[in-house]
Amino acid sequence: MKQSEAETSFSLPDDTPLARELADLSARKRRLADASVRFTGQTRVLTVSNQKGGVGKTTTTVNIAAALATLGGKVLVIDLDPQGNASTALGVPHSADENSIYDVLINDLPIADVVRQSPEHENLYCVPSTIHLAGAEIELVSQVAREHRLKTALDAFRDAQDRGFDFILIDCPPSLGLLTINAFTATDEVLLPIQAEYYALEGLSQLLGNIRMIQKHLNPRIHVSTILLTMFDVRTRLAQQVADEVRSHFPNETLRAVIPRSVRVSEAPSFGQTVITYDPGSAGAIAYKEAAVEIVNRENENEGAA
Ligand SMILES: Nc1ncnc2c1ncn2[C@@H]1O[C@H](COP(=O)(O)OP(=O)(O)OP(=O)(O)O)[C@@H](O)[C@H]1O
Ligand SMILES: [Mg+2]
Repeated sequence: MKQSEAETSFSLPDDTPLARELADLSARKRRLADASVRFTGQTRVLTVSNQKGGVGKTTTTVNIAAALATLGGKVLVIDLDPQGNASTALGVPHSADENSIYDVLINDLPIADVVRQSPEHENLYCVPSTIHLAGAEIELVSQVAREHRLKTALDAFRDAQDRGFDFILIDCPPSLGLLTINAFTATDEVLLPIQAEYYALEGLSQLLGNIRMIQKHLNPRIHVSTILLTMFDVRTRLAQQVADEVRSHFPNETLRAVIPRSVRVSEAPSFGQTVITYDPGSAGAIAYKEAAVEIVNRENENEGAA
């Protein structure tokens, strides 16, 4: 069995930072094993978006999706980024000759014809993206109902399912073009990953302004429901300062779980895997599972309060 990055076979004195971190990780694993989650039977659609590049959108999409599937949810990931990184991480073919989300958006192909089961989990499905999607941004401009094409296709697909999806996650490119607008039109919730670094909040007000515009003109249901701090480096004070600032602005949206910077998380996609299957006991996998539990349970709490 592969050794987890945070687990070592030799014993350490109890008072070192590493020993404390390991004890902490063991306690968190026990809590996760005891955690109960209840899927409500309603489908929740979350669009993972931030126009900043490289903040962990795709990593968050695939790992939250895999964590939700291991918790018993039926999960669909829509890869809406021409880079196709989410398809890669979920082990789903996405070479140029595969049918993909491009054909759904541009050629009216039903989602049922392009959806694939991910080898990651029997409950996890993916609509892949191919390089053709790079042209879709331009091609969509002249299409009828160009902002609604994803929503229309998704509604038809959902209506035809015997067992509905518990979660649909949409991975967006780092821009606010027509692809992202299609995701915003089809979604209720926005999941915003924020990288715990100096320029983290820059550009955020523009993104929130855009979401308000979508709310007003295209989709009144859209709201930022969830903020997740990613690539958190426990050794830097800056990461903690950014986290504090994000929490002070968005106390209700920001998850308690924080994703650490971890080599295991970044190397999993090169094996066509998420970190949830690649190294389930690693700090990154545990953090993503904690985030997934929180995403499910917070909504249930909100329902109870409403
Ligand atoms: N927790 C983490 N620890 C270490 N590396 C990470 C972590 N999360 C993401 N990365 C790495 O950071 C890079 C950017 O992550 P990712 O591709 O998820 O970002 P993105 O926001 O989807 O990027 P883009 O804007 O290009 O779509 C990748 O190389 C990824 O492997
Ligand atoms: Mg990405």
